[in-house]
Amino acid sequence: MVLCMSEKKKVLFVCLGNICRSPAAEGVLKQRLAERGLLDHVEVDSAGTLGYHVGELPDERMRAAAVRRGYDLSSRARVFRASDFDEFDLIVAMDQSNLADLRSFDAGARYRHKLRLLCDFIPDSTARSVPDPYYGGPEGFDRVLDMLERAAEGILTHVHNGREA
Ligand code: 4NP
Repeated sequence: MVLCMSEKKKVLFVCLGNICRSPAAEGVLKQRLAERGLLDHVEVDSAGTLGYHVGELPDERMRAAAVRRGYDLSSRARVFRASDFDEFDLIVAMDQSNLADLRSFDAGARYRHKLRLLCDFIPDSTARSVPDPYYGGPEGFDRVLDMLERAAEGILTHVHNGREA
C-alpha cells in the first residue's frame, strides 16, 4: 500500500490501564509503519481511561508476548486527557467499555466521528471487544496480539483514506 499524505495523521489507542492492550496496539502499528517507511507520516500513541498505572512500562507479560513477535513495547502509561480529542484524528477503543467511557468524556458528541472500536478494523470479525488479558493466563496476551495484527492493515487504510475527518 502507498500512503501519500501531506499532513501527519495521529492515531490514539485507548484501553483501561494503558499497560496491556493499547500499548501493544501502539507497538504493532508503529512496527507496520516502520516496515513501510511511514513513521514520519503517522504518529501513534496510547492512553488509559484510568490512572492506576501512570508512568509504568507495559505489563511484563504483554512485553514478553510482544517481544516473541518482534515488537518492542517501551511506552509509559498515561491517562486519556480531554485535549486528546482535538489532537488525534482517530481514537481507537479496545473494548466497548472503553468506548463508552470516551463517549462520556465527549459530552457534546463533538468528537464522535473520531471514535472507533479496534474490532471495527478486523476483517470478517463479529467480535466487538479485545478481551482484557490482565487477570487471565498467558494465552490472553497472544490473543490480544492476534487481534491487533489482524486490525493493523485496516487502520492504516482508514488513516490513508482520511475517513476519520
Ligand atoms: P489494559 O489492561 O486496559 O489492557 O491495560 C488492564 C491493566 C490493568 C488493570 C486492568 C486492565 N487494572 O485493573 O489494574
